[in-house]
Amino acid sequence: MAKSIVIVVGASSGLGEQFALQLDAHLRKTNEIWLIARRKEKLLELSKKMRNNTRILAMDITNPGQMERLRDNLADNDCKIRMLVNCAGYGMIGDFEEMSAEEQLGMIRLNCEALTHITHVCLPFMEKKSRIIQLASSAAFIPQPGFAVYAATKAYVESFGKALREELYSKEIYVTTVCPGCVDTPFFDIAERTGKILAIKKATMVDSASVVSKALKDSCAKRNMSVYSAPINLMWGLTKVLPHGLLLPIIRIYKESQQED
Ligand SMILES: NC(=O)c1ccc[n+]([C@@H]2O[C@H](COP(=O)([O-])OP(=O)(O)OC[C@H]3O[C@@H](n4cnc5c(N)ncnc54)[C@H](OP(=O)(O)O)[C@@H]3O)[C@@H](O)[C@H]2O)c1
Repeated sequence: MAKSIVIVVGASSGLGEQFALQLDAHLRKTNEIWLIARRKEKLLELSKKMRNNTRILAMDITNPGQMERLRDNLADNDCKIRMLVNCAGYGMIGDFEEMSAEEQLGMIRLNCEALTHITHVCLPFMEKKSRIIQLASSAAFIPQPGFAVYAATKAYVESFGKALREELYSKEIYVTTVCPGCVDTPFFDIAERTGKILAIKKATMVDSASVVSKALKDSCAKRNMSVYSAPINLMWGLTKVLPHGLLLPIIRIYKESQQED
């Protein structure tokens, strides 16, 4: 008999871990929740807190060979994926020319390439009423000097998520793109290795449970986008009505004033 599963990618930490816990608390009729990330011990710790059956796949999703093994695993187990949540991602703050090429290209490989690859691997195992959640960011709304490559990767995820939603809608597979502002997770342990987050962003920091709870509600309601918190919704609105040519110089002036402090 086919196995009904949910896959959470990037489940070892932050938003992915929170998605796994909230899905575990709410899901019925799922045989297994598959938890994917590189750190096996973190996934094991998480699975002990969960009441559903879990399968731990400690893998690097930027490795094409490991992705092929995931495809084989899905086929061998005759899986039907009810939900795919793509949370693996990282960002590094800092001016483009001051950061190594490897740091920047790594963001593109994980946030864009691997997210696209895993979505492609999983889609053939999805049927009517399945859902996909893609983690973008409010950084997708406008180019971000000082976070340029990360913001560009998230603009890719937003564009990809919205287009995929239209392609899959008639098949009743629903895609929701989640665009949080700053969320209190270990994301910043990596992001701030190369530079500091702007104070205005830090001031709008929210907790991961609220972002995930809204994202799951928006996904259930088949919404295209999930944007949590009033300041981030305001920013989203402004970036839609005001030209980027007007907003970018304001951001530059604010950033320069922060550096002088
Ligand atoms: N926190 C924020 O402020 C914020 C805001 C907007 C959007 N986001 C986005 O939300 C998503 C989740 O971020 P987070 O805040 O939860 O960060 P996080 O706590 O650092 O979690 C990142 C997750 O990605 C996994 N990961 C990283 N590289 C991987 C790889 N090569 N293969 C497999 N898994 C990998 C990590 O697990 P391992 O290290 O164990 O592999 C971890 O589980 C990211 O896409 C991020 O860009 C975050």
